[in-house]
Amino acid sequence: MELKAGQVAVVTGAASGIGFALAEAFARRGLNIVLADVQDDALATATERIAALGVHTLAVKTDVSKEASVQALAQATLDRFGGVHIVCNNAGVGGKGDTWFGPVATWEWVLGVNLWGVVHGVRAFLPHLLQGGHIVNTASIAGLMPGFSAPYDASKHAVVALTETLYNDMITANVPVGVSALCPGWVRTGIMDSHRNWPAELGEAPPDDPLSDIATTHVRRAIDEGMTPAAVAHMVLEAVESGRFWIFPHDDFLAMAVKRWERIAEKLDPEMPEETPGMPPRSQVMAEVQAAIEAMLTGLE
Ligand SMILES: NC(=O)c1ccc[n+]([C@@H]2O[C@H](COP(=O)([O-])OP(=O)(O)OC[C@H]3O[C@@H](n4cnc5c(N)ncnc54)[C@H](O)[C@@H]3O)[C@@H](O)[C@H]2O)c1
Repeated sequence: MELKAGQVAVVTGAASGIGFALAEAFARRGLNIVLADVQDDALATATERIAALGVHTLAVKTDVSKEASVQALAQATLDRFGGVHIVCNNAGVGGKGDTWFGPVATWEWVLGVNLWGVVHGVRAFLPHLLQGGHIVNTASIAGLMPGFSAPYDASKHAVVALTETLYNDMITANVPVGVSALCPGWVRTGIMDSHRNWPAELGEAPPDDPLSDIATTHVRRAIDEGMTPAAVAHMVLEAVESGRFWIFPHDDFLAMAVKRWERIAEKLDPEMPEETPGMPPRSQVMAEVQAAIEAMLTGLE
């Protein structure tokens, strides 16, 4: 769709990282911006920075995992601007705690924000986009290729699947709503510190898992050296304008996802790749994990 000054873009997770960069990129094109985020201090700062670009802004504290909160966001958008053109369901969290032995809250948090947040966002805004608009759902390359953590991978696979179905449904219904799935690899953001927004209602945040901490150290470095959020936002705007579904900022990760599917086509069992962009060789990470297990077992003797 054509982007025009005065249109309205809603971005969830707009206080930081990719969400802030999306808000900034749309604002630089003259769109008015609704910034939604659960973290109020960062939301206030981000809104000031976007308003300084000369567009109208609305900040709405939102917990995307809650349907009522996202419905209230949609209502606040309509009350303030009378309509909406672009919706970026982008808020997401990395995870916290041990996937298999920790509390189930670790799953509930990640699926609540990453999956239900997108479901609520689509359902709340779609009825207001039917005259023409575009929805961008932030998934991840982990939505096509597991390897980050089970809750995160599951949430992002679900986002890719529902987004593709939404795209097909819009075509079937002949409705002028564009749909895109954003599937990045490493992007330089605050995602490794997502636990800053661990919700009190899920109880005490679970302790870190010492074994996954080893991989986490490498992932943190890869993210610190990753693509800038501004570069990702630039690709999103291009996809919205040209009506493209897939947004793949990282060709090297896409090639890995394709390799996975080639093995599936040959009915071969999953195989963890030895090389992942930005990471040390898998054999090195596995040797580090095994050394840590041995040290733990020795400590128990
Ligand atoms: N950074 C990467 O390498 C990477 C790669 C692939 C996909 N992603 C995805 O990009 C999206 C944005 O993350 P980011 O990397 O910019 O991280 P980030 O932590 O910098 O930004 C995420 C934002 O979401 C907000 N948020 C967290 N929980 C929320 C909730 N319940 N309701 C509303 N807002 C909430 C946070 O306050 C934060 O402002 C996420 O969906 C993430 O999974 C990131």
